Amino acid sequence: MSGHHIVALLKILIAITGASGSIYAQRLLDNLNAEEHEVHLVMSRYAQAVIGEELPDGLRVPKGVMQHSLKSMNAPFASGSNPCDVMAIVPCSMGTLGRIAHGCSDDVLLRAADVTLKERRKLILAPRETPLNLIHIKNMELLLLAGAAIIPANPSFYTRPESLVQLADTVVARILDQMGLPQRLVPRWQEERD
Ligand SMILES: Cc1cc2nc3c(=O)[nH]c(=O)nc-3n(C[C@H](O)[C@H](O)[C@H](O)COP(=O)(O)O)c2cc1C
Repeated sequence: MSGHHIVALLKILIAITGASGSIYAQRLLDNLNAEEHEVHLVMSRYAQAVIGEELPDGLRVPKGVMQHSLKSMNAPFASGSNPCDVMAIVPCSMGTLGRIAHGCSDDVLLRAADVTLKERRKLILAPRETPLNLIHIKNMELLLLAGAAIIPANPSFYTRPESLVQLADTVVARILDQMGLPQRLVPRWQEERD
């Protein structure tokens, strides 16, 4: 092999669905290096509606991030021969969570989640709903048993966040940890501060 072929470290798929918390998706995208990694993006139909309510300037898709429509079943992460290394669904609605738990794979977002699980790659869900009913909890149980990681979109306060971005970053830091990516968004508990 010769030439200067640059190989991305990780193939990452970010999926945004119609749960409250579009800011988490924005901050996750802002903190991924799309030059170092191959970063793909797919959004559910209702993600657009929630983004419209929650992000005054809409979603900023960083340069280098490749966006795909829900219908592009030939996207480069939708088949078992070509899975992503990590898929993170942020935020994850109860609808999407339930559809994945029950194998409904009728768009590329759901299909990619199914492929990620079956190929034993990392699937991370950041669900957001309150209160939870038994169906939500049983679906989460199924997903845990199938190998998914569930990081509830529950912000924490012990670092004394002073803005919505800082508050959102308390969740995004945990997602980056799960992805195996370095993050300095939030100091670790009892870590020395400068
Ligand atoms: C402004 C807004 C906020 C919503 N927040 C939530 C939420 O926090 N959690 C949730 O499960 N669904 C929430 N929904 C409902 C979902 O968008 C709805 O169930 C949708 O069918 C989910 O589809 P999707 O998973 O394909 O995005 C919200 C809807 C709107 C319009």
